[in-house]
Amino acid sequence: MTNNVAAFHKRSIEDREGFWAEQASNIDWFAKPEKILDFSNPPFARWYVGGKTNLCHNAVDRHLASRGNQRALVYISTETGQEKIYSYKELHQEVQAMASILKSLGVKRGDRVLIYMPMIAEAIFAMLACARIGAIHSVVFGGFAAPSLAARIDDAQPVVMISADAGMRNGKEVPYKHLVDEACRLAEKPPAKVLLINRGLAPMTNVQGRDVDYAALRKEHLSESVPCEAMLATDPSYILYTSGTTGKPKGVQRDTAGYAVALATSMKAIFDCKPGEVFFCTSDIGWVVGHSYIVYGPLINGSTTIVYEGMPTLPDPGIWWSIVQRFGVSTMFSSPTAARVLKKQDPKFMTQHNTKSLRRLFLAGEPLDEPTAKWISEALGGARIIDNYWQTETGWPIMAAQHGIEDTPTKFGSPSFACYGYDLRLIHESTFEEVGANEKGMLCAVPPLPPGCLQTVWGDDERFVKTYFTSVPGKKYYSTFDYATRDEDGYYFILGRTDDVINVAGHRLGTREIEEAIQVHPNVAEVAVVGVADQLKGQMPLAFCVLKNQAPIQTADGRKAEEKAVMATVDKELGAIARPSRVHFVTLLPKTRSGKLLRRSMQALAEGRDAGDLTTLEDPTALEQIKAALKS
Ligand code: PRX
Repeated sequence: MTNNVAAFHKRSIEDREGFWAEQASNIDWFAKPEKILDFSNPPFARWYVGGKTNLCHNAVDRHLASRGNQRALVYISTETGQEKIYSYKELHQEVQAMASILKSLGVKRGDRVLIYMPMIAEAIFAMLACARIGAIHSVVFGGFAAPSLAARIDDAQPVVMISADAGMRNGKEVPYKHLVDEACRLAEKPPAKVLLINRGLAPMTNVQGRDVDYAALRKEHLSESVPCEAMLATDPSYILYTSGTTGKPKGVQRDTAGYAVALATSMKAIFDCKPGEVFFCTSDIGWVVGHSYIVYGPLINGSTTIVYEGMPTLPDPGIWWSIVQRFGVSTMFSSPTAARVLKKQDPKFMTQHNTKSLRRLFLAGEPLDEPTAKWISEALGGARIIDNYWQTETGWPIMAAQHGIEDTPTKFGSPSFACYGYDLRLIHESTFEEVGANEKGMLCAVPPLPPGCLQTVWGDDERFVKTYFTSVPGKKYYSTFDYATRDEDGYYFILGRTDDVINVAGHRLGTREIEEAIQVHPNVAEVAVVGVADQLKGQMPLAFCVLKNQAPIQTADGRKAEEKAVMATVDKELGAIARPSRVHFVTLLPKTRSGKLLRRSMQALAEGRDAGDLTTLEDPTALEQIKAALKS
């Protein structure tokens, strides 16, 4: 690690309060904090105790005087052909209208609002409107199916849900409304009101007394002014569900002030993006990257954010680079999978656009392979590619090169160093001692976690402690559930998860969740899902099923039909993003004598590797079946 980055980091750990007190000046406060950090009840950290602020004020209102006419949000849909630019002033008006609508629907401070929406500007108005009135938003990715949505409804218990008639993908409408209706039917505690944005893409039948139309209400509320609530620093701002080891997704709960400060600081130190510059993050608001770097980060920074609905390849694979050229994008954020998709196309699509404005392209969410990083950097005329590593739980990078502090060389395959605020340790899996240079360890952080990281699991403090702080005895560490090494120069290399989480195109999925979805299929007795390396998407889920009547399916056609039926069950229960690439049928799954599934052996075989340690395997014929199935 070089000098300035190292010194910045050292200070952030050795003088946490001093460091984060300084960073607090990156945002506006309604009341200054009385105490920077309260860590009297570890591992719970409370940042900026006593302070009062508002995320929406910081993202919108505070820019009105100096940059009211500047572009705040550029909405581009290559699916519908719509393009619309909102200045900070216009954004302010739209967000107030949305806030006023929510209030009229009975939303009060502390209430939850569930946002299940495609990538449209109204989704961002909705998030900011919630922040404005102190409601806690929970955005659920539009690709999730009705039962997943219902589970999140029951956990968050929103008073209002906001949705739309449909999304669009690859030129086709993806209707949402029937999923909303189905989820409300499945949920034990459905929202009282559903606010619907009618894009005119798919027919909708309104449920009397529950469904309300946004366009009509917007007209009524467009001139309303709604002040920003003075939120306590530690008031929750949002819940975002993510997958873990168990089938039940966890509601990551974020605070208000810590998150605002963390994002404001990251825009300077990590992203090195100036106010007034253009930030283009290609993620979706349903994921943490979208929350932090489509919505809050760039807007808190006074930058222009580009909100894009569409594929990276339509109308042609040069679309993103034409956006970079047209809007003078300085900073971009995307995923390695997207870069790999583009790499398969003719490079002329990239080079035909002038991408000189682009200083850096940040890639995160999954490992970035060297050929992809090199290719995209060359195709972009040498723009720097910054691999950064983090999680839904942290809300902002745990590791990254920090060019806002110092220009440091990057190494392929490494997200560089720990970011300020994270006291990272690599812990040996069985001795629980710290490992040496280039040795593999579990990547852990010494609590308190820095501002912006999860406060707790929504409604379940015990699960928070048990999930994240018990991998190493003594509750001394937060576990990232990733393995990593660190070289002599301090550069980290991420080696993959220690748990049953897989990463499909940068989307985090629990194998247990997929197994539970498959088990809904009436013929399935038992199932094991593993993540298998995939050239394009990083990993793909692969399923091995035991059917209820145990007899092997005799014909190839029969197997194909059953495979399709299992895949359709996953689509219906969880969503197509979790659909296994293949479903194999066996009559026995490999287990240990104590009944534990040997997932790692199945995964190794599926990836063409040796099955590993099999001393505890109960019935060797089970593995033979897996091998035979994989060959078929
Ligand atoms: O396994 C790590 C992987 O993605 C996980 C977190 O996923 P999610 O909660 O969806 O948050 C993504 C935020 C960018 C991590 O535990 N991961 C994330 N970034 C990288 C990565 N693996 C390798 N390299 C990365 N840069």
